[in-house]
Amino acid sequence: VLSDSLETKCKCHGVSGSCSVKTCWKGLPSLGEIAADLRSKYLAAIKVTHRLLGPRRQLVPKETDMRPVGETDLVYLVNSPDYCTVNPQLGSLGTQDRQCNKSSAGSDSCDLMCCGRGYNTYTEEVLERCHCKYRWCCYVACRTCRRAVHRHVCK
Ligand SMILES: *[C@@H]1O[C@H](CO)[C@@H](O)[C@H](O)[C@H]1NC(C)=O
Repeated sequence: VLSDSLETKCKCHGVSGSCSVKTCWKGLPSLGEIAADLRSKYLAAIKVTHRLLGPRRQLVPKETDMRPVGETDLVYLVNSPDYCTVNPQLGSLGTQDRQCNKSSAGSDSCDLMCCGRGYNTYTEEVLERCHCKYRWCCYVACRTCRRAVHRHVCK
């Protein structure tokens, strides 16, 4: 992923950026872009199995209706453990007591993250700076406001 995502970046030098001299280098995109690329490979990963092909052992897709495995596809032999429950041997902390997001549809949603066990809701009071005003000269004066926020944690 890293070597495929290398891109050429350039910078101009010279009188008021006239680009009479240009410096170029190979650079990586942001970590977020690399992470998104890895994540999409993870989501599209193909389960494979060993098969003897003459004297050689080959990795072939377990489901025969799967698309052929490409050079840069991510493959796996064994399913991931169930991350819903605690399993110290596998390094899984489980999701109990983790904060989830009730309005999200992604992996941080209460439905997905709590693995169908449901969640507890509690109200927390947060203190925030508010009604901030600029005072001459030179500081900002704020008041402290209390606000109730609802938090959800997995059962
Ligand atoms: C929860 O998810 C919604 C929708 O994705 C998002 O707008 C919001 O910022 C999230 N809240 C928290 C506390 O992460």
